[in-house]
Amino acid sequence: MSTLHFGDGNLQYDGQGRLRHLLSIEGLRERDLLQILDTTESFLSIAQRTVKKTPTLRGRTLVNLFFENSTRTRSTFELAAKRLSADVLNISASQSSTTKGESLLDTVDNLMAMQVDGFIVRHPEAGAAHLLARHLGERALVVNAGDGQHAHPTQALLDVFTIRRLAGPVEQQVVCILGDVLHSRVARALIHALSILGCPEIRVLGPRTLVPPEFASLGVQVHHDPRAALPGASIVYALRLQRERMESHRLPSLDEFHRRFGLTPERLALAAPGALVLHPGPINRGVEIASTVVDGPQSVVLAQVEHGLAVRMAVLSLLAGVPGHED
Ligand code: CP
Repeated sequence: MSTLHFGDGNLQYDGQGRLRHLLSIEGLRERDLLQILDTTESFLSIAQRTVKKTPTLRGRTLVNLFFENSTRTRSTFELAAKRLSADVLNISASQSSTTKGESLLDTVDNLMAMQVDGFIVRHPEAGAAHLLARHLGERALVVNAGDGQHAHPTQALLDVFTIRRLAGPVEQQVVCILGDVLHSRVARALIHALSILGCPEIRVLGPRTLVPPEFASLGVQVHHDPRAALPGASIVYALRLQRERMESHRLPSLDEFHRRFGLTPERLALAAPGALVLHPGPINRGVEIASTVVDGPQSVVLAQVEHGLAVRMAVLSLLAGVPGHED
């Protein structure tokens, strides 16, 4: 269902089998995923210091190349690079010469002429990060910060890091992913990460128009009734309703969606006692999730953001070939 292939085998690895780009969780070796999570632990404490910097990427230059809006991903990648002492260029499509017709690859070639070392790219088209990685090869690293409905690997990494840290081993969790699964690169990436880490039960829940039966091919249980999907879930992951990617016929109304599927306190009470509530943001309060749940004691949405910064520091340092940080 979600498997999109962009040719050339696994572009994420170089000729020596070293992780060179992070394009998708699909195709990532378990040991590399675990190394990223373990390295993240070592970066988490840096945020608590007065001086929140390490010299890990001193002298390197990274480009944040965003063709779609972002608050969390763009800011945490920028902060991650700065805390690693890299220089950072922030380029958003609306302020770049792509508005005058310059192509993505021409943009990248011009930035490469400035001797930059890597690109963090978000793009509305699935496969954009793969295109860049194929074009650049080993000349610069590429991190996919979200491409269309395809993949968002660092989101999945911060999600499984949060689950592992706050709920316990992924192998012991029952995860229910709720809402607009169809349009969600976050859901696809998370399902792949949970599967690699041995999560025994992954459920997806939503209306048939947003959770089609084909998702079962990913090894998940497909549900259309919260009373069947939520009991026993130790992790409840609410997804944003992606109205910008949706044709109008998929939902009768936002109120109807909230009434039938929204994560309310009453629905959360169906899950396992103390179940953690995650959401990737941005949140539509009162649509996929009630404000009282977002702000309630079981919500870990802001911990996800904190962990995202450390995950992105780990990813950038590992891809740059600097596996730890120097104090
Ligand atoms: N979760 C996430 O990708 O948020 P942003 O769109 O704000 O980056």
